[in-house]
Formats: sequence, C-alpha cells, structure tokens
Amino acid sequence: MVGLRVLVLVVLAGALQAVGAALPPPERSYNILMLLPVSSKSHRNVFMPLAKALTQRGHKVTMLSNSPLSEAEEIPGLTHYENPLVHFKIDTINTFDMMDDHEKMFKMFNERLPLMARDIYDVPIVKNLYNRRKEFDVILLDSIFNEVMYPFTFNHTFIAVSTGGLDPTMSSIMGNTLNPAYVPNFLEVPKPLSTLGRWKNLALSIFFPISWEYSVQAPIQDEITKRFPDLPSFREMARNVSLTLMNSHFSTSLVVPLLPNQVEVGGLHIEPTKRLPKDLSDFLSGTTPVVYMSLGSVARSSAMPQEYKDIFFSAFAKLPYKVLWKFEEEPQQKLKNVFVQKWMPQQDILAHPNVKVFISHCGLLGSLEALHLGTPILGLPVFADQPKNAKLHEVMGIGRKISWPDLTEQLLIDTIEELITNPMYQENIKSISAAMKDRPMSAVETAVYWTEYVIRHQGAVHLRSPERDLTWVQLLHLDLLLLLHVALLLIYVAIWKFVSFCFGRKDRGNKSKRKNE
Ligand SMILES: *[C@@H]1O[C@H](CO)[C@@H](O)[C@H](O)[C@H]1NC(C)=O
Ligand SMILES: *[C@@H]1O[C@H](CO)[C@@H](O)[C@H](O)[C@H]1NC(C)=O
Repeated sequence: MVGLRVLVLVVLAGALQAVGAALPPPERSYNILMLLPVSSKSHRNVFMPLAKALTQRGHKVTMLSNSPLSEAEEIPGLTHYENPLVHFKIDTINTFDMMDDHEKMFKMFNERLPLMARDIYDVPIVKNLYNRRKEFDVILLDSIFNEVMYPFTFNHTFIAVSTGGLDPTMSSIMGNTLNPAYVPNFLEVPKPLSTLGRWKNLALSIFFPISWEYSVQAPIQDEITKRFPDLPSFREMARNVSLTLMNSHFSTSLVVPLLPNQVEVGGLHIEPTKRLPKDLSDFLSGTTPVVYMSLGSVARSSAMPQEYKDIFFSAFAKLPYKVLWKFEEEPQQKLKNVFVQKWMPQQDILAHPNVKVFISHCGLLGSLEALHLGTPILGLPVFADQPKNAKLHEVMGIGRKISWPDLTEQLLIDTIEELITNPMYQENIKSISAAMKDRPMSAVETAVYWTEYVIRHQGAVHLRSPERDLTWVQLLHLDLLLLLHVALLLIYVAIWKFVSFCFGRKDRGNKSKRKNE
C-alpha cells in the first residue's frame, strides 16, 4: 500500500517535472496552431517539445508540418497534418549540390517557394485551417521559409519561432535594429571585428536582406497577393508579431541587446537523456574513445559524392578509436571499429562520456546539442548557416573545421587526433555546457511561459518596441544631422559674410583709394 502510494507520488512528481513545475497552472485550456509547412524535420524538432509541454498543460495543439509524424513522435492532444505538396520534400533536395554556392541555394528557394505559395491554399486541409483560424488563441509560425503562411497571421495574435536563432532582419522588423559593427549577418564571419571584416559584414548586412526580399520573397508575395488582394505585404504583417522565440542562448553564441519580446529558448529541442538501445550501449562501453558522425537529416551521407565516402571509410579503418556513423545506406565496407545505422538517438549518444568527437555538418540544432552535452565538434559544413557555425566553433575553441574540398584521409585522421588528445577542446566545451544548463527555467518552460503570456495578455502589445514607429532616417538621426549640418553651414556662411563684409569694406576702400591715386 505504502509502496503504491510512493510509486504514485514518484510518477506524479515526474509528470509535474516534465510539464514545468515552475509554472502556475494555466487559467484555461488554450487552442494553439503551429504552422511550419515548408520546414525540414529538424525545424519541427524545435516545435515538438513545446507542443508536448503545451498539451501536457491541457492545451490543444494543431500542427501543420512538411512530413508525417512517426509513431514515436505522436503526442496525445496534438493534431498533426502533413502538407502534401512535394515542392519541399526532403528527397527532392540534395544539399551537396548547393555546397558553398549561395546562388544555387537562392535559386532553389526562388523556384520552389512561389510554387508553394501558388498551391498551398488549394490543399483542402490548409483551406480548412485557414477558415478556422479565428478558433485559435495564438498562432506559432516558423519565421524562416514559411512566409506563405502570413495570411493566417493577419488580424490575429501570433508568435514567430526563429528555429535558426537570432535573425537580424526579424529583429529589425520588431524594432530592435542590431548594429552590424559586431552583429554578424546570416552567412558571414562570426566575429566581424577587423576593418575588412566590418566592411564585408556591413555590406552583407545591408544587401543580403534586400536581395532576399527582392529575389526570393517578391515572387512569393506576388502569388499571395493574387490570392489575397486585400492583405498588406509580408513585412507589414510581420511587424505585428507579438513575440519571437529564438533558438539561441547567450552562453553559446553572440551576446546582443534584446527586447522583452525576443525570448531566447536555445536548446528547446534537447530532451532529457534517455537510455541507449542495447546494441549501441554495448558498442559504446569500454575505455576506447568514440567518434560519432552524422550529417543531419538534410545533408544525408547517402547523397555524398563517392570520393568523400572512400575517404571516410579508409580514415575510419585506420583510427585507433571506435566510430558510430549515421549513414543512410548499406555501407560499402564492413569495418570492425565502425557501427553504421540509418538513424541514431543523437542526443543520447552525445551525452555518453566515451563520445569524444562529433563529426557534424554544423547545423544549428546539432551544434546546440553538442554544446549542451559537451562534445567537441569536427565541422564539415555544407551550406546555409553551417560554415558560419563551424567557424564560430573554431573561434570558441570547441571544435575544428574542414572544408570539403580540403578533405583528405590524413587531414581527417589528424584533426580527429587533435580533438581527442588536446584537452583544451573538452575544457572549453564543458564550461559552455555548464553555463548553458544554468538557467532559472528550462528552455521548454520558458517557451511555454511566454506562449501563455502572449495569450493571457491578448497579444501583449505592451512589449512592443517604440523603434517600430521610427523610419530608418529617424533611427539614424539623419534628418537631425542634416538639419544640424545645414544650420552649421548657415552659421559659417553668416560669419564668413560678416567677416568679409567688415574687412572687405576696408579692402574695397583701400582698393578704391589706390585707384584714385
Ligand atoms: C481585419 O479586422 C478589421 C477590423 O476588425 C476588419 O475590418 C477586416 O475586415 C479584417 N480583415 C480580415 C482580412 O480579416
Ligand atoms: C495585431 O496584433 C494584435 C495583438 O495580437 C491583434 O489583436 C491584431 O488583430 C493584429 N492586427 C493585425 C492587422 O494583424
């Protein structure tokens, strides 16, 4: 009897911990809509823990995403719909094709996003959700690549989820224009502090958002305007965002001044460590250091050019370590020290003390996991923000980076060796990991708190920055500076006229005297 009661208490305590014991119970059950029909699975992984925590607090969550939920991902209280359109299905995209080629990446979005905008409101389930949008207390929108969903947010309360962390353009739209003297843009150097770096960063900070807006967003906007002629532009609709949940944390990246409605929930997708399956835990046990390699869900190893595959196989064969490799096809060679599997419980693997190096494409989510769990990173970035993340890891002293064109068997072996034998990397990443975990509320609790807060306060308009009402001319004081310059010029001219009048008369007097002589 007592045993049973203890058991019930333990279970109850566990449940409370899971849903955030730090938070008071919600006033009522809310109806929440999450929109991410264009996003990759990894972006959805940022939403899932929040969806789970919200349903555990008695709210109803409806989600529109780009891929079906696996059985293990299903959550009671969550209604999930898949966007059936093929335009952004993962098997139609090969990121190795776009390696270090921003133009190709732009082109892909440029071709496919307008098609998405054209077609998505014909999908019955999307139409239905759109017509029902007023039933929801709040809409959570993945703010990157999902512009097609802005019509949902008009006349509505919505929260932007920035799965890629800080987005300077969104920040500026919200009324927090960040200074490019030290805030890097999306693609560039992590620390733009040298003179040349500042020039480059300033130019990119200005021209990247402009070219994104004109070459990628404008055609999407055209399609949306055709369908919803009465709606204002995306930018105008984005301005009404109540809050941004950002997948970043000051302990792991840049420290920037933030508004009260820019909330950092970096590591939101990181779940408590679970026990590993038996085959994996057997493989990891012992005293031999382990290298774990995964290029994520978008840059699949199976899409990797053959020459690179050969390099990995021959380098791994020579390592005095064990290797766990997330690889989506039958391996071409069976090696004794290499364990290959299509899918890996990555977080639980990175948490294992024997795992000493994480070979990664440096996507933001994997990088945050490595930081949180304290595993040094060997970066092999493929595209988008990955090169920047990899460079940042080098700057922070928690990892090394190899560019794909430089990749050789020897370089790979040497770099792994360096990361395992030089204790600096371990020490640095362990201290960051400790700082990242040291928070008043967990990332999930923070996200739950602010989502409920926005609903409780009908959009929480009191959080909005007064900068939103200024034009960039006012923000940079350009009008005042112009006025000041004009005034100074007038004063200067007046003084000059006065002086030349006084002395000039004498001069003229002298001259005329001379003439008369
Ligand atoms: C938005 O709200 C305004 C004022 O309540 C209303 O006049 C307008 O029709 C609404 N527009 C849409 C598209 O719902
Ligand atoms: C702007 O946001 C507020 C608060 O969430 C909401 O009530 C209002 O309908 C929104 N207006 C527009 C035009 O989207």
